[in-house]
Amino acid sequence: MNRIVEVVADKVALIERSQEIILSRLQAAIESRDRFTIALSGGSTPRPLYEALSSQALPWSKIHIFWGDERYVPATHQDSNQLMARQAWLDKIEIPDENIHPMHTNSANPAQDAQKHEAELQKFFQTKTGEIPVFDLILLGMGDDGHTASLFPHTDALTVSDRLVTVGNKDGQPRLTFTVPLINQARCVLFVVAGANKRPALKQVFAEQADAMNYPSRLIQSQGELFWLLDRAAGAEL
Ligand code: 6PG
Repeated sequence: MNRIVEVVADKVALIERSQEIILSRLQAAIESRDRFTIALSGGSTPRPLYEALSSQALPWSKIHIFWGDERYVPATHQDSNQLMARQAWLDKIEIPDENIHPMHTNSANPAQDAQKHEAELQKFFQTKTGEIPVFDLILLGMGDDGHTASLFPHTDALTVSDRLVTVGNKDGQPRLTFTVPLINQARCVLFVVAGANKRPALKQVFAEQADAMNYPSRLIQSQGELFWLLDRAAGAEL
């Protein structure tokens, strides 16, 4: 694992630097494999990043968009990560529909929808059962409890090692989430974290010793690059 921690002045710098990292990995992926696969994070932090990316002139037909997690709500629901990314970015660009690969949340059976998305990932990446797809970049946020994607503290999802997608649980609300093994297989994992409210959890995530079940972001030890991009409000004490 190649962990890089960068603390930048503020949210504007955070968005600029995360866009820089994404665009450079995008260019490298397209040069070497003629496509770029990215899994998006939800929440509020990445919205301005998605808005910035929507004004980039990129080979959209070679870019494939996934999500690392999704709230178990309809794609039209205000809490939907898919809806946020479409409104901030994807509805503003000429990207083929087939290049957008949302997690389905419409069967009323989260476990079934998790398995369905897992099968879609295996088909897209042409991996066999047991083989883990390699994303070019997985974008992650971190909650002030140290969760990432929908891998929440002390939930079953944290220890799922034989699946690619599983059912997360936030205070009893189901979510769909990439598993730790899938995230850790990525060529590049990029955490983008802002705000002083994230400071206590960041200290635990970066501590020599801490319980990863309490601070699930500690479980992310990607086999490729691991970027932690923080604004000063979040990363001041690291
Ligand atoms: C989600 C995200 C989640 C998010 C963190 C941070 O579905 O909400 O994937 O993991 O990244 O909760 O959220 P903020 O960026 O809003 O602080």
